[in-house]
Amino acid sequence: MKISMAVAAAAFYLALGIILVNFTGQCDAALQVGFYNRKCNTRNVEGIVFSVVERRMNEKKGIGAALIRLHFHDCFVKGCDASILLDGDSSEKNATANQSVGGYEVIDEAKGLLEEACEGVVSCADIIAIAARDAVQLSGGGRYDVQTGRRDGIESLASNVDLPSPSSSVPQSADAFKKKGISLEDMVLLLGGHTIGFTHCSFIEDRLYNFGGSGEADPTMDPSLVEQLKVVCPKNSEADAAVSLDRNLASTFIFDNSFFNQTKHRRGVLPIDQALALDPSTTNMVDNLATSNDFPARFGQAMVKLGAVEVLTGQRGEIRKSCRAVVKNKPRSPFSLFG
Ligand code: HEM
Ligand SMILES: *[C@@H]1O[C@H](CO)[C@@H](O)[C@H](O)[C@H]1NC(C)=O
Ligand SMILES: *[C@@H]1O[C@H](CO)[C@@H](O)[C@H](O)[C@H]1NC(C)=O
Ligand SMILES: *[C@@H]1O[C@H](CO)[C@@H](O)[C@H](O)[C@H]1NC(C)=O
Repeated sequence: MKISMAVAAAAFYLALGIILVNFTGQCDAALQVGFYNRKCNTRNVEGIVFSVVERRMNEKKGIGAALIRLHFHDCFVKGCDASILLDGDSSEKNATANQSVGGYEVIDEAKGLLEEACEGVVSCADIIAIAARDAVQLSGGGRYDVQTGRRDGIESLASNVDLPSPSSSVPQSADAFKKKGISLEDMVLLLGGHTIGFTHCSFIEDRLYNFGGSGEADPTMDPSLVEQLKVVCPKNSEADAAVSLDRNLASTFIFDNSFFNQTKHRRGVLPIDQALALDPSTTNMVDNLATSNDFPARFGQAMVKLGAVEVLTGQRGEIRKSCRAVVKNKPRSPFSLFG
């Protein structure tokens, strides 16, 4: 008797468990490769985004780096929910505008074409993720399978923007990544994104002229690089010139591992880039990446993890009509049954 009751109870809890798993499974559908297959009439969603990115990068090479950075800045603030794209006086975009994030027009163009192909189907958050993947590929970094199925957030606040600083230490930066569920190893790989694109003199002035208040250059920077950068960034200059992050200048727009070789030779530009090569927790990884050829493939895998940070899936969030504005404004109060 007791045994059959225990069996019945076990069966009941098992059934309940299955129901709960199914239910939450529906609410929190996982990201997947090819989410839009056969969802956009007969059109190839990823192909449409690729053609836009390809044309824009042919017009202006630097747009590739901007798109990769856009994905990082989106994912690190309230998850990969396209909150960075929303216009507004106090939206994220405005807080980061001075950090020269770009590529917004590329996303707008792709969204316009996708709304014509299949209205209300493709999220802006997925367009950013696909465009970042295409930018890596078109820069020579190889193609990885991008996961899709994200939905768009409805909130964007400048006050939410809390990105790691370029002058933070490796452990501080690792802490910020860990809070997003990203390991130290993946952080090193992702910072390899600095193998393309630019920074500006204002971010490195103190390394050149007054490191830590010393009145001298940062002793961890190769002295010949210090001299070279002083020419591009004269002391107290008004013009905030652009500086290639990868000091193998033949490779400014090429997605390869030369960023790691440069930092290993004390030719990192941002403090955090140089710190990767010097910190005991990451120096071996940098050495390894500098001399092996598996960086692009490993970077792709790290991007997939970045792209999964705090995503909205299933019924959560919404699909915007324009990437710059929300459709619904605020979630309705559960108490207002009408209107
Ligand atoms: C600790 C983390 C990071 C810090 C502190 C950091 C900081 C910076 C800074 C200061 C710039 C230059 C901005 C400017 O001068 O206009 C920059 C550029 C860039 N970052 Fe990062 N970054 C981080 C992580 C990442 C990650 C994870 C990615 C992508 C996977 C990334 C991709 C890029 C790219 C591609 C550029 C060049 C942008 C362009 O040329 O338009 N960064 N980053
Ligand atoms: C950004 O914010 C400032 C106030 O901090 C405001 O004057 C400006 O209009 C905003 N810009 C955009 C594009 O929303
Ligand atoms: C960028 O803007 C934010 C707020 O809008 C401000 O706190 C920050 O100092 C600015 N950064 C730079 C480098 O100008
Ligand atoms: C690594 O960087 C150093 C310093 O710039 C350079 O001399 C060397 O040729 C580079 N090695 C490779 C494999 O690119």
